[in-house]
Amino acid sequence: MATKAPKRTKDDLKRAKQNALDLLKEDHQKVQKMFTAFSRLKEKGDPIDKENLVEETCLELLVHADLEEQVFYPAVRKAIHDPELMNEAKVEHGETRELIAQIQEMEAADELYNAKVTVLGEYVVHHIREEEDAMFPRILQSRLDLDELGDRMLARKEALLAEREAQ
Ligand SMILES: [Fe+2]
Ligand SMILES: [Fe+2]
Repeated sequence: MATKAPKRTKDDLKRAKQNALDLLKEDHQKVQKMFTAFSRLKEKGDPIDKENLVEETCLELLVHADLEEQVFYPAVRKAIHDPELMNEAKVEHGETRELIAQIQEMEAADELYNAKVTVLGEYVVHHIREEEDAMFPRILQSRLDLDELGDRMLARKEALLAEREAQ
């Protein structure tokens, strides 16, 4: 019996036609929801649930930061000619990575755990606003091919996720 090609899911179809900005906005929404979920668990949530959610959130953020730094930011730097804006984004990623590294060393029972995760969430929301409100409009005015970039980013994201899973 001939084997049928796997059916494409609705998710695959949606992802297949995402441009670069849609792809990033979807990641942004996802992590913001994760921080909202954390704020609900913060006071009385089970410590294991909290740690699992936080670890998942940190991995999501690291893959997103790698993707932007390796593929998105270099393309945007060339297209919008605003080194200051791009340097600020780079510094914010650096600070975020430092906070993530500290949190990954902690346990939910640690005194500063909730505070660190909350500050990380505030930091990430600020960074997302800078990207969506300052950087993305500049990109839309540029000649950057967002469909082509989206394809490259999707391929890179899949490779990054596979790398993370193999770790
Ligand atoms: Fe970013
Ligand atoms: Fe981003």
